[in-house]
Amino acid sequence: MSNIETINKLKNEQSASRRELTALLQTITDDERELLRQAAQKTAQAVFGNKIFIRGLIEFTSYCKNDCRYCGLRRSNKNAVRYRLSEEQIMSCCKAGYSLGFRTFVLQGGEDAFFTDEVMCGIVSAIKREYPDCAVTLSLGERSEDSLRRLFEAGADRYLLRHETADEAHYARLHPPGMSGAHRKALLYRLKEIGYQTGAGFMVGSPYQTFENLADDLLFIKELSPQMCGIGPFVPHRDTEFGNMPAGDLKLTLTLLSVIRLMNPRILLPATTALGTIHPNGRELGVLHGANVVMPNLSPAEHRKDYALYDNKICTGDEAAECIRCLSRRMEKTGYKIVCERGDYQ
Ligand code: SAM
Ligand code: SF4
Ligand code: FES
Repeated sequence: MSNIETINKLKNEQSASRRELTALLQTITDDERELLRQAAQKTAQAVFGNKIFIRGLIEFTSYCKNDCRYCGLRRSNKNAVRYRLSEEQIMSCCKAGYSLGFRTFVLQGGEDAFFTDEVMCGIVSAIKREYPDCAVTLSLGERSEDSLRRLFEAGADRYLLRHETADEAHYARLHPPGMSGAHRKALLYRLKEIGYQTGAGFMVGSPYQTFENLADDLLFIKELSPQMCGIGPFVPHRDTEFGNMPAGDLKLTLTLLSVIRLMNPRILLPATTALGTIHPNGRELGVLHGANVVMPNLSPAEHRKDYALYDNKICTGDEAAECIRCLSRRMEKTGYKIVCERGDYQ
């Protein structure tokens, strides 16, 4: 089957096989990518018009007990600067964010034992009490099912947990022994059952990744059918063992955004900071390829640079207000408009 035939299948919401998806990702030409892009943009616009949802990202702890081999926050990185925000600091990020128009707050951090269920539930319910019209998204890594349930009951609406790679063997090359891709995938199903709007996702161009791995990622997302999907290029961090590996490819990331949009028309799909890091207009290009969400940083300026997952991360020197102004301008130039809405999955 030719790439054009595969693209037509995707446009018609027919399922493409692993082999077709692999071939598409591996051999797509620039002209074919433009056809794919136009179809993905049209699908996104049919669902969301020219609206772009914003999520205020609060990176509240850089401590992590895990040792993911790609991540600058991994516990074995002795050069990482560790900080954690107090509940008061988190609340003041929300206050600033609310007045800038944010109606979703994303609490993201390393797996930090300080934030027990009790502490975390307290923070979630404080935010929901103060800002009942806002959604709270958690991105805390793996927790027990009981913990995830308690957090949901405390008011958390959404949970982001990238599956990272759908392939067990590839997962094992990216993570230390003891972490399991199967467990992570199972947790994603639990999150959906509990009632969270759930986000899966993966890095594009992570070390040892093959085109078949990416096809499997696409098929996993189709099967799980999450409400959100976070994808962005892998970007090396100098203090990790993958520090000399190349970053993920821009065009491949954009192709994947378009394919995900066509395979999952209503999915909430961010143009990520990592995409903005590998190309000055990465986020605008992401939106033009089917993304409909951006996630500016609301973390206190003094800690921005210390949440260093990878090198050269953008926006680490800017205040939240500057970022939102900058992004609004960027989106308007691209023909889109940032809106002050919760932006739930419909
Ligand atoms: N600790 C939680 C977890 O792992 O799910 C949430 C924070 S973690 C830093 C969020 C995401 O950052 C991960 O799911 C991973 O995909 C991404 N990430 C980590 N290191 C990265 C790198 N070097 N390049 C690009 N993305 C990276
Ligand atoms: Fe920790 Fe998440 Fe980084 Fe893994 S990706 S080391 S869990 S912060
Ligand atoms: Fe942060 Fe442009 S979005 S400075």
